[in-house]
Amino acid sequence: MKHILDITDLSVEEIGRLITVAEDIIQNADQYQDVCKRKKLAALFFEPSTRTRLSFEAAMLELGGSVIGFSSAASSSSAKGESVSDTVKVVSYYADIIAMRHPKEGAPVAAAAVSDVPIINAGDGGHNHPTQTLADLLTIHREKGRFNDITVGFCGDLKFGRTVHSLVSALSRYTGIRLVFISPEELKIPHYIKTDIVEKNHMPYEETRTMESVLPELDILYMTRVQGERFFNEADYIRLRDCYILTPDKLAAAKKDLCILHPLPRVNEISRSIDKDPRACYFKQVENGKYMRMALIMMLLGLLP
Ligand code: CP
Repeated sequence: MKHILDITDLSVEEIGRLITVAEDIIQNADQYQDVCKRKKLAALFFEPSTRTRLSFEAAMLELGGSVIGFSSAASSSSAKGESVSDTVKVVSYYADIIAMRHPKEGAPVAAAAVSDVPIINAGDGGHNHPTQTLADLLTIHREKGRFNDITVGFCGDLKFGRTVHSLVSALSRYTGIRLVFISPEELKIPHYIKTDIVEKNHMPYEETRTMESVLPELDILYMTRVQGERFFNEADYIRLRDCYILTPDKLAAAKKDLCILHPLPRVNEISRSIDKDPRACYFKQVENGKYMRMALIMMLLGLLP
């Protein structure tokens, strides 16, 4: 039994397999409609979500399976003091696979320690979000046709942005990737990501505060929201929340084949007027996430063709 707590729980070969299956699902959806018949997914969301929860649910329903779960801690017995471990142990009697989001970093590790069914980390605090990375990777693959030899700029809240941490970790296993981290001082990429992942894998990188100076170099621009819910001080959030806003005039200096990604939800950091630009790929990411979650559910249940 395999859990997906971190993107490195999947090998490069397994990610390649998931991409192949996801692309086949896109072409031949009908062939997958009964694959998970009589299987149940539990979606345990202790923290708000739109895309991740609903795409896991849509993924399981499109595979012919069923879904149970809750969308907030308040509507579960965790509101009465039940531990994550007990909650997961109980749910593993009802479901074949569990997707779990929790505000505490490491909560999915505690869940996996007691679960009798596969656990998928659907986002833990400011730590990791491996299935968003699967959505990101399929989008990069479909837009660029490769993972090697690209310059990727990450912009915004790189401190709390768990999708950034997971994608940097995923990209560290390919060659020729150059990283540009664009953030204010207070929201810089965590030191451990630089030392344990970027530097350890000899990835060239730079850190900067200004988006404009590096935009022309980028093949991929990964925008992120400043995560107000993880700040201790509201005044700091208000001061930093609009530190980067991507607008059409800034984009004029970017490559014609730039791929703009954003895990969403968006607040102000990408102007709505960019949505129709062919370089805007963030709604494609949403759709790709469902296909990769379908492939992942099948893999973890031993149902891949
Ligand atoms: N990208 C993402 O995790 O979105 P949700 O918070 O809506 O699930």
